[in-house]
Amino acid sequence: MKIFLDSADIQEIRELTQTGLIDGVTTNPSLIARSGQDIKKVIAGICDLVPGPVSAEVLAITCEDMLKEGFALSKIAPNVVIKVPLTKEGLKACKSFREQNIGVNVTLCFSPAQALLAAKAGATFVSPFIGRLDDISFDGLLLIEEICQIYQNYPSLTTQVLAASIRHPLHVVQAAKAGVHVVTVPGKVFKQMYAHPLTDKGLEIFLEDTAKTGQKITQIL
Ligand code: G3P
Repeated sequence: MKIFLDSADIQEIRELTQTGLIDGVTTNPSLIARSGQDIKKVIAGICDLVPGPVSAEVLAITCEDMLKEGFALSKIAPNVVIKVPLTKEGLKACKSFREQNIGVNVTLCFSPAQALLAAKAGATFVSPFIGRLDDISFDGLLLIEEICQIYQNYPSLTTQVLAASIRHPLHVVQAAKAGVHVVTVPGKVFKQMYAHPLTDKGLEIFLEDTAKTGQKITQIL
């Protein structure tokens, strides 16, 4: 399973890509707005840091305008993936981009039927939102499970399920159990994935015990 960062914060992306565990980045208009930077500068900066796919979202509503914006975004760097909303116009734009071999992430997916259409439109990624469904008391995980099951029934569908709107590490684990291809996580959730109080406590004890022996591994080299 690939792990993407859901972020437009260059500093955070720089810090976390140094782990070597980040396979790509997703952005959205809200994250770009929060960065306070202009779209082209942020996307170019992220693409410099991350060789994997970097999703950049169109802001247009019509297919025609989405195509114009998408082509402009795709010129920023070769690893830009165009993010389009899961609307009729977005699906049309997705099909057209894919016919021209441009990667597409179809976002704002909230139902299995929508995900089926995204796959039919040849999307590279479909982004079902777990957290935003949970927020309104619908089962976000169930959506993920249903999409994975549908895609598995039709192996000729090549669209990758990219679990988005992840709020905590349990969402990541549940999405992985369902068999998603990718999770996109905020930096905070990535950090929560490796943090564990028993790991910290255990390390503290090992260091204390080692200090008592007065030994160092470097001494045996
Ligand atoms: O980028 C799409 C998605 O991950 C947004 O997450 O937390 O705004 O629901 P959130």
